[in-house]
Amino acid sequence: MSLTGCSDWQSALHAHGANARRILTLIWTFSAVAATTWLLVMLVLATALFRGRLREASRSPLQIDSHQERRLGIAVGSATALTVLVLTALTIGSFFAGKSIASLSGSEVITIRVTGHQWWWEIRYPKIASSQEVVTANEIHIPVGEPVRVKLDSLDVIHSFWVPSLAGKRDLIPGRPSELTLIADKPGIYRGQCAEFCGYQHAHMAITVVAESREAFDAWRFGQDADAIAPASDEEHRGQAAFLGTGCALCHAIRGTPAGGTVGPDLTHIANRRSLAADTLAMTPGALAAWIADPQSIKPGAKMPSIALSADDLNAVVTYLGSLE
Ligand code: CUA
Repeated sequence: MSLTGCSDWQSALHAHGANARRILTLIWTFSAVAATTWLLVMLVLATALFRGRLREASRSPLQIDSHQERRLGIAVGSATALTVLVLTALTIGSFFAGKSIASLSGSEVITIRVTGHQWWWEIRYPKIASSQEVVTANEIHIPVGEPVRVKLDSLDVIHSFWVPSLAGKRDLIPGRPSELTLIADKPGIYRGQCAEFCGYQHAHMAITVVAESREAFDAWRFGQDADAIAPASDEEHRGQAAFLGTGCALCHAIRGTPAGGTVGPDLTHIANRRSLAADTLAMTPGALAAWIADPQSIKPGAKMPSIALSADDLNAVVTYLGSLE
């Protein structure tokens, strides 16, 4: 599935979409111009120091050479003009890059809503003709080659949405909705991260973007539409009962069951996701058990409390959640 290696799945220097590429061009242009300017300035400075030392030996510093003064005036004047020219060129370049990124906006067919929470991402795929609104967490699916509008908002503090291989960075400011456009060239898994310090677990607030073919995306979207799978085995029944009976359901929703909490991620299709706790842990039964048993030792400060479950109930809850494909 992942065509991108691990080294370039989260890097502004490895652009995998039109918008990220425009930003990358800008990065290289600015870097090249700044490096050249710095080298020139250092070269001129070194020459001036060297020649000044030679001249010091040959004449008094109070003696003014009008010819020399005029040459200096011309040199400083041209350097100032060149600086203005370079800055103007960079500003115009930056303006047009911004304009071309904005030009994609409005052409999107798919719109999703991303809400920042301390410290995870809530993702909503709005109701479309034949399907209902779907709520998921920490993993965005998009079809390759199609611009997707991402509407951003936050309910607590300022977060920042940044998937560097696909797009620029945008802050999520409570009460001030913003948006950006995600577009990926080729299938792959791209990682993003909250880019604005938002509290204790800011570093553990990652997001995964899965870019896939239109067919795979439609299949995923269709799968998300369904209510949670009903428990089949005794173990899964026991797990569901423990989940509903011990407080998990106060914070988490599982569509198709009485669990309707909205404090934490919607778990209707949790077993389909690649990671847990905003990409802090891989989605494995062991990690899931560890996370439920003691979230505070894995992500101190997170809103998820430890819930006292017997070992058998814990195993049953893990089995039940693991069945929620
Ligand atoms: Cu959310 Cu940093």
